[in-house]
Amino acid sequence: MYMKLARYTRYTLKEIGMSVCRSLKCRIGPSILNSDLSQLYAESQRLLDNGADYLHLDVMDGHFVPNLTFGHPVVKCLRKKLKNTFFETHMMVSNPEQWIEPMADAGVNLYTFHVEPVQNDVLKICRKIKESGMQVGLALKPGTGIEAVRQFIDAADLILVMTVEPGFGGQKFMSDMMPKVQWLRQNYPLLDIEVDGGVGLNTINACAEAGANMIVSGTAVTGAPDQKSVIATLRETVERSIHKCNV
Ligand code: DX5
Ligand code: ZN
Repeated sequence: MYMKLARYTRYTLKEIGMSVCRSLKCRIGPSILNSDLSQLYAESQRLLDNGADYLHLDVMDGHFVPNLTFGHPVVKCLRKKLKNTFFETHMMVSNPEQWIEPMADAGVNLYTFHVEPVQNDVLKICRKIKESGMQVGLALKPGTGIEAVRQFIDAADLILVMTVEPGFGGQKFMSDMMPKVQWLRQNYPLLDIEVDGGVGLNTINACAEAGANMIVSGTAVTGAPDQKSVIATLRETVERSIHKCNV
């Protein structure tokens, strides 16, 4: 009960204490965007065998971002092959409400959408996502400040702080996004805070120290000759920060 309260309300780290803040879990969710998509299942299975906790599936509509990827039919096929894997869809789309039912039907666990195109409807969309049985993630583009999600944090399971402009894998990490992560962690010690874009061995330390616990990493993992060791290092770095309770 106490943990639940701490998750939703603004206790400081001092108030909730070390043992509680250490209950935060680190999760590594590789993005398959830049992998060989003709081998989607095999690539996904390889990531899971190498230690991935969940899969981050980048859905783009060619409108909210200038790129196209895949939609719910592909996710549904992947779900048939991977029955127990936790799927997050990162919805880089202009009308996130439109895809709630199809994605729920495809077996998505966490539906993360951008608040920018739907500012007035965020709560309504959160409610619909929950009603469809999925968890809710709220995503922020680099140019969007925390104030755009502040009032909705209690309605969400996760906040995604983008560390590149959404649309393409393999871009440079924006370290100037870290103050957003820090603010969230200071005010919501047990909130799931995800970072996405340019996260790899050279940038994980900044993410971990700022307080991120959900780590999306694309190219740095899928392009690595030894995926297992990259995933393990990402995890160790974040777990060290959690243990120090500087998150
Ligand atoms: C960007 C996507 C990210 C990205 C991650 O629009 O949301 O998930 O592909 O890939 P890397 O880690 O290569 O930036
Ligand atoms: Zn993404």
